[in-house]
Amino acid sequence: MLSKIYSAAIFGLETTLIEVEVDVSNGLHSFSIIGLPDISIKESKQRVSAAIKNIGAKSPLRANKKITINLAPADIKKYGSYYDIAIALGYLLASQQIIPFSPEKKIFVGELTLEGLVKPVRGVLAIAMWAEKNGYEYIFVPSKNAAEAAMAAKHLKVIGIKSLKELISFLENKINLSPYKAPKNFSYAFNKEMDFSQINGQARAKRALVIAASGNHNILMIGPPGSGKTLLAKAFLSILPIMSMEKCLEVTKIHSISGLLPPSQPLIMQCPFRSPHHTASSAALIGGGTHPIPGEITLAHCGILFLDELPEFKRDVLEGLRQPLEEGEICISRVQNRITFPAKFILIAAMNPCPCGYFGDSSKECVCRPGDIIRYRKKISGPLLDRIDIIINVPRLLFKEMNSNISLETSEEIKQKIIAARKIQEQRFINVDKRYPTISANGEMRIKEINEFCQVEQQAEILLKKAINKYSLSARSYHRILKISRTIADLEDTEIIKFNHVAEALQYKTEFSWNEY
Ligand SMILES: Nc1ncnc2c1ncn2[C@@H]1O[C@H](COP(=O)(O)OP(=O)(O)OP(=O)(O)O)[C@@H](O)[C@H]1O
Ligand SMILES: [Mg+2]
Repeated sequence: MLSKIYSAAIFGLETTLIEVEVDVSNGLHSFSIIGLPDISIKESKQRVSAAIKNIGAKSPLRANKKITINLAPADIKKYGSYYDIAIALGYLLASQQIIPFSPEKKIFVGELTLEGLVKPVRGVLAIAMWAEKNGYEYIFVPSKNAAEAAMAAKHLKVIGIKSLKELISFLENKINLSPYKAPKNFSYAFNKEMDFSQINGQARAKRALVIAASGNHNILMIGPPGSGKTLLAKAFLSILPIMSMEKCLEVTKIHSISGLLPPSQPLIMQCPFRSPHHTASSAALIGGGTHPIPGEITLAHCGILFLDELPEFKRDVLEGLRQPLEEGEICISRVQNRITFPAKFILIAAMNPCPCGYFGDSSKECVCRPGDIIRYRKKISGPLLDRIDIIINVPRLLFKEMNSNISLETSEEIKQKIIAARKIQEQRFINVDKRYPTISANGEMRIKEINEFCQVEQQAEILLKKAINKYSLSARSYHRILKISRTIADLEDTEIIKFNHVAEALQYKTEFSWNEY
């Protein structure tokens, strides 16, 4: 007999329907899985057989039949353990060991243990989103993934299953399992490890971070050891507003596919903060592998990528950031396919000005030779620096700043200002025209939008012209200065970009002298 059960596979971030066809016919015993399966699927023969035996049914390895399992479409390479329960059900149906049920409009995903229990798999949210969009009625998922799948379900019924036996009983109408419903209100613990009010002094660096958070601008902090660069970067998370539901789902989907979704948290609501170590490989940062999986830049999508000790990263790894920083996505090409992952993040980088760390310090002397400083700074290429909107000095704190009792602005207070500036930007890009569906912040503006929205007053234009000639700034730098000026003006709720806005933006691009040592 023949049976057909529906399951799904994930390629990159996209979901594809997989039809699991099982044919059980008379003949010499054989048990084969075809349709370009990888080793983990070939091994599912053993898992499925043991699980079926252990729930008291006749295992395909012992049946005196010719069993063929086809995973269609046959030209796509399949991997992972998603299909275990679909294969088991297909076999039980085709060998007439269970009461027939209609597999139409039902999707089955989950891995089986030898005992017949169902284990969680990656990317269930993505599959549920796809099933909801394509009008499926039921999705059967491992019970540990049910909360995650329910986030995407409106009409789709999510059934969380613990074991193969339970699933069969439900399909045979012997037990009732109610669909899992997503909670209406979420109250997850946000990471409030660092607050801006805990950081003394560094008013300029804090201001620059507020601008970066308001308009999604990249920032590089340069300063001596212990000046608070890492501290400031960690506190940055506390001033970022909560993500929209659409972004929460997008971020959760990426983390779910990467296997990084905490079981207790079916929805990620806080912007992701990724801080890979400087020994990270190119594939770890950018994404890759035989079956391409998201790298750190995609995991940081809608959030922050923090690269501490920037010059310690391998140069080719840093150069790999150039395209995604410009495009907001990364395309990974393989011989058989091309996969595009989103990668819109705020880059926060930190470094010392020289190998010893004290170049330019007001009291401590730098012991580096000019050659050492040149080699150190050369690790960061000009094109990469050109893509960083804000470069600031973070000097060592003076004693009086360290011990001052002035009460500082809290992250919550700062966040309100950022939310106001972001609202202005949202209105700008949503209301104007449907041409800009993907732009939500000033940092993402393209030439067309810059020309349209960055009107500067005459005096400011004269200043810009002088600065470009004096500092030999590139066209990209010019555009980036305009974007920062736009954000500074938005923080003041001003439509026209004024002289002082451009002056401040220019400082961020020119205050650190790369060629001075
Ligand atoms: N502005 C500050 N306010 C309060 N504490 C600070 C400040 N700056 C530094 N510190 C203290 O110094 C420690 C080190 O700071 P941090 O790790 O941010 O330095 P850094 O600039 O990243 O140094 P490095 O260049 O060595 O990485 C902090 O854990 C904190 O105790
Ligand atoms: Mg540090």
